Amino acid sequence: MKGVEKISVLTAYDYSTATICDRAGIDILLVGDSAGMVMLGYPSTVPVTLEEMLVFCRAVSRGAEAAMVVGDMPFGSYQQSTSKAIDSAVQFVKAGCDAVKLEGGAEAADRVRAIVDAGIPVMGHIGFRPQTSLLWEGSRLQGKTSDSFSRLLADARALEKSGVFSLVMEMVTAEAADKISKSISIPTIGIGSGPGCDGQVLVVHDALGIYDKIKPRFAKRYADLAEQMFKAISTYRSEVKSGKFPDESNTFHADFSSRTKIASKKRAE
Ligand code: KIV
Repeated sequence: MKGVEKISVLTAYDYSTATICDRAGIDILLVGDSAGMVMLGYPSTVPVTLEEMLVFCRAVSRGAEAAMVVGDMPFGSYQQSTSKAIDSAVQFVKAGCDAVKLEGGAEAADRVRAIVDAGIPVMGHIGFRPQTSLLWEGSRLQGKTSDSFSRLLADARALEKSGVFSLVMEMVTAEAADKISKSISIPTIGIGSGPGCDGQVLVVHDALGIYDKIKPRFAKRYADLAEQMFKAISTYRSEVKSGKFPDESNTFHADFSSRTKIASKKRAE
């Protein structure tokens, strides 16, 4: 699709959302480790475990008929060794994923190569890397200076060479992301990285306005579901309290003058 059509990517973590995204024609469903925050309430993506991620992946893959499903490898599932990385990636495929994503630049190239050699497509992730960037960098935004741009370009080229089929760029300046997208042959998927990328990804909770602990400036809100859910839930609560719910249309009635077949059969036995 690179150079032909922009690629639409959304995160998804459950069956019902996956079916809606699939019906809407979203190209790739990313089961992001952001699930740790928006689904499980962790303060960052770091605590989410492989086992937790696999539950979300199974649900999403059951709901995705046409969309590609990419499972995000959580912190601690691929850093230790290449064999651990392959083992974890295999579990994502067994959970129904078509590919995996992992964070890292040139230093992750050997892990990527090993997973690709095991037959599993890998999506890279450079720029701001939520699993580790805050341990090292003062700023989330990458590619502001020519040094930073050169490092990102070297990372992108190393990952392309090691076999990634696509590359997420998170919080990279629009200028750097545009140049990198034009310098490599694989598609780039931007998040907070401007319009020059070959595709865009958003966390579905940001796009739908469900998670409001963090409101990144780059995330456009297409709905305010938190407010709609709040209103609906509050109405339900007051209808239960007042007795308005359930009404006749939600109620089943008995006919005590008739006997069920099972009851009469039992008596016959
Ligand atoms: O975990 C996630 O949701 C991600 C995307 C935002 C790229 O990695």
